Amino acid sequence: MKVVLEHLTKIFPSRNKKDKDAEVVAVNDFDLVIPDGKLIGLLGPSGCGKSTTLFMISGLQAPSSGKIYFGDDEVTKLAPENRGIGLVFQNYALYPHMTVQQNILFPLQNLKGPNRLSKEEMLKRANDVAKLVQIDEFMNRKPSELSGGQQQRVAIARALVKMPRVLLLDEPLSNLDARLRLQTREEIRRIQRDTQITTIFVTHDQEEAMSISDFIVVMKLGVIMQTGRPQWVYDDPANLFVAKFLGTPPINVFKGRVEGEKLYIGEEEVLGVPGADDREVYVGIRPEGFLLKKNGKLSCKVSGIDVMGRDVSVVSTNENSLNPVVRSIISSDEMGNISSDEARFDLKSHKVFLFDSETELRVYFGEQVAAHEKMVAEMKEAGQYYVHEGPLPREADDADRHKTAEAPKGFFAKVKSLFTKKPKKEKPAENADMGSENEAPAEGEVPAENAETPVEKSDTPAENAENHEGEAE
Ligand SMILES: Nc1ncnc2c1ncn2[C@@H]1O[C@H](COP(=O)(O)OP(=O)(O)O)[C@@H](O)[C@H]1O
Ligand SMILES: [Mg+2]
Repeated sequence: MKVVLEHLTKIFPSRNKKDKDAEVVAVNDFDLVIPDGKLIGLLGPSGCGKSTTLFMISGLQAPSSGKIYFGDDEVTKLAPENRGIGLVFQNYALYPHMTVQQNILFPLQNLKGPNRLSKEEMLKRANDVAKLVQIDEFMNRKPSELSGGQQQRVAIARALVKMPRVLLLDEPLSNLDARLRLQTREEIRRIQRDTQITTIFVTHDQEEAMSISDFIVVMKLGVIMQTGRPQWVYDDPANLFVAKFLGTPPINVFKGRVEGEKLYIGEEEVLGVPGADDREVYVGIRPEGFLLKKNGKLSCKVSGIDVMGRDVSVVSTNENSLNPVVRSIISSDEMGNISSDEARFDLKSHKVFLFDSETELRVYFGEQVAAHEKMVAEMKEAGQYYVHEGPLPREADDADRHKTAEAPKGFFAKVKSLFTKKPKKEKPAENADMGSENEAPAEGEVPAENAETPVEKSDTPAENAENHEGEAE
């Protein structure tokens, strides 16, 4: 079942009684086609509107404006139970007093009229989906007698038993430990391939989304930033936000400038960039984009070396780096080229992305131009090309985003004053300087009086792009 979202927008009224205008635009003019039978990963930092998008598709929340189609049918105003959707949440939400079988049967027992099944049919269906998610041997257990991964499989079985037209998964793996998460995501992928149900998988974890999705949709503050095949978005990010959000270790970002078709980082000329105009840029270099050379063009101070089997990660610093450290992944054969405290790198030009320092939009150069055009043509043909072209949405503290490891002037004095002085009334102003999120609609925070949503949502760690930078070394 193809799902089409047209200008979908959700505005929540202000929660602040004194400031009625402080409404939250959770989803902003969302246009998206989700092809039949595909698995789409909806990806973005916590608070960017992923759940709200999913709730609107499910019918649990009504859009402020815009339309939703399943195939050719408009479903914008259709009640959730009539949409033919299956929903799975992070916290399983199983009925604790029922057995696995009763939990799976539950949605079928409420079917009315012509959809009603006989008892034998219901049992057969429940057995079939239990087999599909490999939970059939536990049919008589209670949820408390199952591991987290098994409980989540029951939840998936329960979502599948009505044979939904669209399967919606909201951070379904967040409560599982690392190993189970990996295993369960493979399972979800297999089940989706087997059933061919159009599936939307929401996560803030870029690795998770990249690994199981046919297409990913990267969101920021309710706006789609870029869509495409995971590898394409990784290899050809349209703006700095997308480049920073995808990849572990994260992309290295430097301050740089283009002058006479040459790229400079600090005083060092590091790469020829034919076709790029003179300007100030952010230079994004993927960790695998460095070549360790005796006379390499970019010099960094080595601060550590991590051996990871075949590859080696050289951790270094450079005064123009906006990340606290520069992380490069090089082959162990190149290690001979390192002197004790200096590493010199040449750069692989297809792993170097330039972004205009004002707009943060990509600046293509050299062979990247043709490679980009080829990908765009391919994605357009697949009906999956979308790149945000206007100005990027900015968070209240966005200006602070590129702060280096150094604390801003007066920072420590301010922190100290918080403990010694009585807190002033105009607290937000004071906090603004310190990169506090107090002013912004609190990211990831779910309002307690969230009457519209069916289940309580637990906090997800704000593992967003911004946080890569603050990573402890
Ligand atoms: N019922 C609600 N009332 C007011 N604001 C809400 C409500 N639900 C979500 N929000 C706000 O909308 C934004 C998007 O939330 P959400 O869709 O839950 O994000 P995500 O799932 O990406 O973490 C956030 O700023 C959040 O605080
Ligand atoms: Mg959410």
